[in-house]
Amino acid sequence: MKNINIILVGAGNVGKAFLRVVHEKKDFCLKHYRLNLKVPFIFSSKGAFCCPLCEDSQEILRKLYPEFTFEESKYWKPGFSYTQALSSVDPGVLAECTPSNIKDGEPALTIIREAMETGWNIVTANKGPLVVDFAGLIKKARKNKVTLKISGATGAALPTLDVALYSLAGTEIYRAEGILNGTTNYILTRMMEGLIYSEALREAQEKGIAEPDTSLDVEGWDTASKILLIANAVYGTGLRLQDVKREGITSIPQEIKNESQKKGKNLKLLGKILKNGHKVRLEVALSILDSSHPLYMVNGTEKGMTFYTDNMDSVTVTGGKSDPRGAAAALLKDIINIYREK
Ligand SMILES: NC(=O)c1ccc[n+]([C@@H]2O[C@H](COP(=O)([O-])OP(=O)(O)OC[C@H]3O[C@@H](n4cnc5c(N)ncnc54)[C@H](OP(=O)(O)O)[C@@H]3O)[C@@H](O)[C@H]2O)c1
Repeated sequence: MKNINIILVGAGNVGKAFLRVVHEKKDFCLKHYRLNLKVPFIFSSKGAFCCPLCEDSQEILRKLYPEFTFEESKYWKPGFSYTQALSSVDPGVLAECTPSNIKDGEPALTIIREAMETGWNIVTANKGPLVVDFAGLIKKARKNKVTLKISGATGAALPTLDVALYSLAGTEIYRAEGILNGTTNYILTRMMEGLIYSEALREAQEKGIAEPDTSLDVEGWDTASKILLIANAVYGTGLRLQDVKREGITSIPQEIKNESQKKGKNLKLLGKILKNGHKVRLEVALSILDSSHPLYMVNGTEKGMTFYTDNMDSVTVTGGKSDPRGAAAALLKDIINIYREK
């Protein structure tokens, strides 16, 4: 049996779901993978919940639900530093779940770098640090002999990168197309059912699918970030966000919508990887799909990705829970796979 210390950074929707999933799967992980998962530190922006001696996250969860605030706990240490946490228990995995900041990757980038330097593996749901410096983080991980896994930031419960890197190993992926953002797919689905853009957007917001600030979704930034991360991880390219040709769904000409509806086609926002020789091109484009396309039936908040390969033909994955619990499960999957590979 191996004891795995986990430091959770960011206890919002995904972080809390992660604590719950770890708690629920603790015995399962022990039995099937011989991994004894512990969460000795949970960081918010103001301090940390520190319980290095808690045997499992039971104690933490009891206090987290339903109305727990960190500050009420005897384990709460305001201003507690990452440096202290990283050096006070054996290095395991730092699970990074702070908000995605695609401008400079902070605060996650600094935290991840420091954790790697002190021997911690990383799993993250956060696109920000990866969009800003994926190549640098991979290099740092290699130098410090730790692993960085990013399923949570590249489709979460929908396996994208694992399919490309493991299931399609040895093939040449010369093209890939993904519906990678549930909010835009929901809006487009409702528009094809007759709503105008503003009505579909409002509905998505009322249902809690879209954030109040939807620009990252509807202007294609989220899809662009994910397709960038997948491409850089698969091909080892050092492409940047500004290399992705990008469009959103905010101003779809009425005639395109009408024409698609009339011909039984579907409108989708696709993240695309187009490889020609050594050259890799990335784009996010509003695309008109006919019924023969493998992603034609991926509707609502569902996501999907198709890889086109030389020897295995095309392979499509669809589905995956599109919510914090699905993202949390993707983080746990990455932790398990880190130790399987080691
Ligand atoms: N929601 C999903 O379904 C989903 C799915 C896949 C990926 N993701 C990604 O997962 C990440 C988390 O998403 P979320 O929905 O959980 O967001 P959220 O609810 O806003 O949670 C983020 C948490 O990070 C904390 N935080 C901010 N700065 C921090 C710092 N310096 N140190 C420690 N904690 C800090 C915030 O709490 P305080 O400010 O109170 O400290 C907040 O609780 C994002 O990057 C998101 O893009 C989300």
